[in-house]
Amino acid sequence: MTQDEAERRPLGGRTALVTGASSGIGAVVAQALAEAGARVGLVARRKDRLADVLARCRAHAPGSAMWTADLADLDGIDDLAAAVERELGGVDVLVNNAGMPKRRRVQDMSPGEAEEVVRLNYLSPVRLTQALLPGMIARGRGHLVAIGSVAARLGPPHEAAYGASKAALTAFWESMAVDLDGTGVRAHVVQPALIAGTELFTLPGNEEPLSDLSDALPPREVADAVLELVASGGFERYVPDWFAEMASGKAADVDAFVAGVKEWTRDRLES
Ligand SMILES: NC(=O)c1ccc[n+]([C@@H]2O[C@H](COP(=O)([O-])OP(=O)(O)OC[C@H]3O[C@@H](n4cnc5c(N)ncnc54)[C@H](OP(=O)(O)O)[C@@H]3O)[C@@H](O)[C@H]2O)c1
Repeated sequence: MTQDEAERRPLGGRTALVTGASSGIGAVVAQALAEAGARVGLVARRKDRLADVLARCRAHAPGSAMWTADLADLDGIDDLAAAVERELGGVDVLVNNAGMPKRRRVQDMSPGEAEEVVRLNYLSPVRLTQALLPGMIARGRGHLVAIGSVAARLGPPHEAAYGASKAALTAFWESMAVDLDGTGVRAHVVQPALIAGTELFTLPGNEEPLSDLSDALPPREVADAVLELVASGGFERYVPDWFAEMASGKAADVDAFVAGVKEWTRDRLES
């Protein structure tokens, strides 16, 4: 490989697996990884949508492949991971991206709905990670990426189960980053704010979003953060990055933060 090729395709010869690759952020991250040279595995439930993304990935990485699976079915994850490892010959970059919202107040949410969110957004990526980790450790390399959310650190209104699932994911990733020290396997988390061009804000069974979506950023910004973390080995990136200041401001005075969010929420509901 020439130096120019290595710069254009830094993941040449590597493999990646992206969950929730049939739309939104996952589809764009998968294509970006393929453009960077990785053979990419795609997972989601909708076969036709995955096939479109697969065709785009194969234009850059012909050995890319797809699997349809319901990742909320935790008992199916070990078999899925084994099938992916057989086909791709191991996974170098796992991007746990599949996720669901549940926009409603706690007093309007059933216990089953809270569990559904935590199962898909937290327990499922943990199970998939644990299934692929032994192979990464045996090869002495790997990147475990979680697509979290600023909700992990900033307790969003009307999204308690969602925020909790992303906070749990982030806490698991933080400890895992330390536990894996010396193995060659690294943990990374991307915390996006509002991202446009996804289906998250139009899924049925959710309230209208409180936030103004006109500020939303393109999904490519999340893909760039994933590529940057894999290259640098860093742990966490906010998209946009100034949300890091908001998170540290909150940590310095949580009471003031909660009071401010109450006021913001009242204003949004009245507007
Ligand atoms: N958009 C934002 O502003 C934003 C901000 C912060 C974080 N995020 C996070 O980014 C990730 C991607 O969200 P997005 O905005 O791109 O939304 P999206 O367009 O709705 O994408 C969600 C993806 O997850 C898949 N998925 C959902 N349930 C699944 C299941 N049970 N089994 C397998 N796959 C499943 C969907 O595919 P199928 O329906 O085909 O299964 C789809 O590919 C999520 O984790 C979300 O929390 C998004």
